[in-house]
Amino acid sequence: MTVVAATANAHKLREMREILRGAELIPEAEAGFTGEVEETGETFLENALLKARAVMKATGLPALADDSGLCVDALGGAPGVYSARYAKLFGPEGWSAGNRALLLKNMEHIKDRRAYFACAVALVYPDGRELTAEGRTYGRILYEDRGENGFGYDPVFYSDELGCSFGEASEEAKNAVSHRGRALGALVKKL
Ligand code: IMP
Repeated sequence: MTVVAATANAHKLREMREILRGAELIPEAEAGFTGEVEETGETFLENALLKARAVMKATGLPALADDSGLCVDALGGAPGVYSARYAKLFGPEGWSAGNRALLLKNMEHIKDRRAYFACAVALVYPDGRELTAEGRTYGRILYEDRGENGFGYDPVFYSDELGCSFGEASEEAKNAVSHRGRALGALVKKL
């Protein structure tokens, strides 16, 4: 089955392909979708469904979308669904170094560093069927970047399960415990 990955984020696509080994996942641009879907939902699940539905409609193919973000306990769950847009006032959306710097600044005096990554995935078929799943991974926010692997907030997220930051982890190790790995694993079980 050919599925369109409803994301323009090359890192996410790479992780999705690695986790869903065997599935034929084509980038949305290759399937003819170059638009932007406004993420107006209040939850990761709503946004994943918005993206998957829009890309399925535009391409006529089954579409798989992920919406994800970092939720920090001491910040009441922020940046949450605004993770990609966190530092938008200071730089372009999705500017990872800016997002991380703003997060570290906002947490300068905070001792409780507990946080989790959350991910919702949605697979929407042209016949109207919709499958969804969610996943989380827990850890703590470091005081500075550690490691250069991954993307987004990976260098400041210390994974409780791996005992290192996602920025220090290999792709394989991250995918084995990550929010995206878990959400996609749960989706595959439902298929
Ligand atoms: P989305 O495209 O709206 O789902 O944006 C998710 C944002 O959350 C990304 O731009 C990253 O900043 C952050 N994020 C989501 N998943 C990860 C991850 O696995 N590692 C690091 N940052 C992530």
